[in-house]
Amino acid sequence: MADWLVDTRTRPGTAIMPGEAPHEVYQRLISNDENKAPETIATTLPEDLGLGGIDKRRYYDPAFHRLEVERLWTRTWQMACREEEIPEVGDVVVYDLAEHSFLITRVSPDEIRAYRNACLHRGTRLCDSDTSVRQFRCPFHGFTWSLEGQLSEVPCRWDFPQVEEARFRLPEAKVDRWGGFVFINMDPDASPLADYMGILPDHVSGEHFAGKYIARYFRKVLPANWKACIEAFLEAYHSVETHAWSLGFTNDANAQYDIFPDSPHVTRFMHAFGVQSPHVDRTLTEQQVLEELFKIFWNGEAAPELAPGEKARPFAAALARQRRSAEMGRDYSHYSDAESIDSIEYTLFPNLVLFKGLMVPTVYRFRPNGNDPDSCIFDLYLLLEVPEGEPRPEPAMVFEMGEMSYAELPGLGHFFGTTYDQDTSNLGMQQKGMKTLLQEDLVLGRYQESRLRHFEKMIDQYIARG
Ligand code: FES
Ligand SMILES: [Fe+2]
Repeated sequence: MADWLVDTRTRPGTAIMPGEAPHEVYQRLISNDENKAPETIATTLPEDLGLGGIDKRRYYDPAFHRLEVERLWTRTWQMACREEEIPEVGDVVVYDLAEHSFLITRVSPDEIRAYRNACLHRGTRLCDSDTSVRQFRCPFHGFTWSLEGQLSEVPCRWDFPQVEEARFRLPEAKVDRWGGFVFINMDPDASPLADYMGILPDHVSGEHFAGKYIARYFRKVLPANWKACIEAFLEAYHSVETHAWSLGFTNDANAQYDIFPDSPHVTRFMHAFGVQSPHVDRTLTEQQVLEELFKIFWNGEAAPELAPGEKARPFAAALARQRRSAEMGRDYSHYSDAESIDSIEYTLFPNLVLFKGLMVPTVYRFRPNGNDPDSCIFDLYLLLEVPEGEPRPEPAMVFEMGEMSYAELPGLGHFFGTTYDQDTSNLGMQQKGMKTLLQEDLVLGRYQESRLRHFEKMIDQYIARG
């Protein structure tokens, strides 16, 4: 911990700037930005969800996991893959969710379908990993289906008079697409993805995401329930303890949290960079803030000298735009300072996390690890833009990390690698500790953990539908 940081556990009450709520501080900050934020950012929807706790058994009880599988995962839109992972007709991604499994298949240049990954003879998985096929042929006895899902061959056909082609099509889940992502929904009565996404496409450009490619794709099994894992990324409250190295240039305790009452599958936080944390016990100079940002976020670069009166935040935002413009051969000068430098995170319920703007290029997806409530599959995509005039690079294949740390990974960079190690290092301890805890409920902060409260409330709503 740098010498100008204090242990805030001994100084309660310093997290919020006196007289102003965090979202007011954030809005005041961006209203003073040189490049003004768009209306979607320059708004706040403070929603008080109260002080209720969360029953800890939801995180490890197999019965609760079963309810989630039957009533939540089978009814929600889930990102199953990127379109670029299946560019050619016959390309298949296997998407597993608890005991469910789907073959996300490009059946024609413009059509993608999701077939249930189980042979209709005696149940064998048709594919065990991502592949490219002309047809689906079961490895056990050879029942075969066309790419369109039509039963096309049954060895010793004479022995199966009960099998009618019309009834033996491969069952399908619904498929829809947005931003280069392929979504599936197991519920035949599900509302369209566009309705489900609510305000998200108005806030985050689908075209922007569609233009990106998978530069890196990392998969790790985390030792905690999927909800504990995603919740670790829904609040910046943990920054003071978990990411103390970033407090010199991030305004963690003044992050804004938004819950959108008319768009219940979407939540957001906006976390300002280029200003110091209120947890820092003295006022840093603008030069010190910039130096912290360069040292930590820009991986040890030496910071330039600010001119007298110049501020770190607009300087860093302008530099981020210039660098991206030079790198991509495109003009980013119209980006707001907030979109240039802040961490603006959206979630699409239940398990997708996206960022708006230039600074955070990652996308997260969390899923239960089979039917184990004590572990989770964390997929981390690094999506990058394609430089102007250059061919779209081949997407990276998924890399199974095993026990590797994020800091050891190529291509993620020191800041993001170390940050993900910091985030994920807490999870196994939390999963174990929740079972040791005598009290029934986990305690949540009223504001900074309000997205977690909303998230758990949404799970309850799906489960309550019976
Ligand atoms: S289980 Fe698939 S052909 Fe027999
Ligand atoms: Fe974090």
